[in-house]
Amino acid sequence: MPERIAVIGMGYVGLVNAAHFAAEGHEVTGVEINPQRLAGLQNGEIGFYEPGLAEVVAAAQRAGRLTFTGDAAEGVRESRMVFLAVGTPKAANGRVDLSQIERAARDVGGAIAPGTIVVIRSTVPTQTAARVQSIIRDLRGEQFPVAVVSHPEFLQQGSALWGMAHPDRIVVGGDDPMALDRIAGLYHGTQCAVIKTNHQTASMIKYLSNAFLAAKVSFANEMAKLCDALGVDFLEAMRGVGLDRRIGTDFFAPGPGFGGSCFPKDVAGLVAMGDETGVDLVLMKSVLRTNHRQPRYVYRKIRSQVGPVRGKVITLLGLSFKANTDDVRESPALDVARILLSEGAVVRAYDPVAEDRSRTVLPAVRYSSDVYGAATGADAVVVCTEWEEFRTLDLDRLSKVMAVPVLIDARNIINPVDALHHAFRYSGIGRGSDWHGTLDDGPAEDRQSGRGAEIERLEESAARGRTGDGP
Ligand code: UDX
Repeated sequence: MPERIAVIGMGYVGLVNAAHFAAEGHEVTGVEINPQRLAGLQNGEIGFYEPGLAEVVAAAQRAGRLTFTGDAAEGVRESRMVFLAVGTPKAANGRVDLSQIERAARDVGGAIAPGTIVVIRSTVPTQTAARVQSIIRDLRGEQFPVAVVSHPEFLQQGSALWGMAHPDRIVVGGDDPMALDRIAGLYHGTQCAVIKTNHQTASMIKYLSNAFLAAKVSFANEMAKLCDALGVDFLEAMRGVGLDRRIGTDFFAPGPGFGGSCFPKDVAGLVAMGDETGVDLVLMKSVLRTNHRQPRYVYRKIRSQVGPVRGKVITLLGLSFKANTDDVRESPALDVARILLSEGAVVRAYDPVAEDRSRTVLPAVRYSSDVYGAATGADAVVVCTEWEEFRTLDLDRLSKVMAVPVLIDARNIINPVDALHHAFRYSGIGRGSDWHGTLDDGPAEDRQSGRGAEIERLEESAARGRTGDGP
């Protein structure tokens, strides 16, 4: 049955939710208090890059099922479900800043009809639902009928609409069983498990999920370093590890570190909750520390290949924190750029969609509109983001335009055999560094004599990968 839904906050989470529910046939009002952003949305500009979203928003607007307003009271008055999807940024000492949630609760609390379900979609600490409830009751009286439901989202940028339609699980928390059923009912077309629980547990499911995924990535990054030092291919080793069903293979890709709007903030939020309650989250602190070091590890790889970077031209491919988004928040690519700039390198960069956002925070980088322009005359090219187009680079052309063919593949997306065949000095993360020298040694000497043996070793390893009969 179509519902009337209001979504407060037309940022990333809010707009994806609004678009999805409108596409499912519900009548959705998106509330956005930033006048510029609101005007953009009303003119069909979604304001960020998310594959497929602009088209779905436009279709829903045309069908009259998605409208935008700056007036929360107007937006929620007719709605029976109100989703709070405002930001919960990191405040001082890692704490979660709940001011936007509190403001949204006040804005909607004064206007909602009795019986409305207020859904907390933002990532919030365990006590937030009680706070929202008390803000509304302060405005409308203790007896005012309102149900608050904690309903965390698990969307990944770059594939968020798909994630809305194919969730692994639906989590709804609260103490009104009928309200939980109604929110879970919005996903009746999906086959996934529904977890009905209390507010605190629902909130914790989100934090624990992100903390565990972040820990997997930091595990991969730390062990990849060890494998580099021991001359072991971490990716090959992990094929053997991941076949253990208790472990699996996802989220073990080593790289320049995790970034984005969730992992760094949510792990820091969890650490702050631990500190506040007297629980020292040693493991989570290490997850952050490992992650913090990773861009410098990429820098050390660059340095080991090109020597002191002062005056050298280093080209970064990819600036967003991962592929298929223009989001550069906490992007490790930008940290690599900052380190290089502080060491006196000339930093060039190309990203298919994140250039504008990167420019505003890092104007000192020289931006190019294509890979080969960015790489012309470069002393090293560093793949920082796993964009699809970087997987199929024309290595012949790339090596010809560069001053020195050095390829640092911080996402392990280029076949090392192909790179070596095109006369590159190649270095991935965790691919074993025996061919490239130890990392702190300064520039690798020219080891042409070792090249044949290295190609053979990599070809053997690639063949084992293909046939699946590796050790
Ligand atoms: C994450 C969670 O996956 C999602 O459930 C939650 O709702 C929000 O936070 P997102 O930030 O979009 O989503 O990105 P994700 O795909 O999870 O990647 C997070 C970071 O980890 C990226 O910087 C990514 O490059 C990095 N990563 C991920 C790795 O370095 N290696 C991996 O194997 C996986």
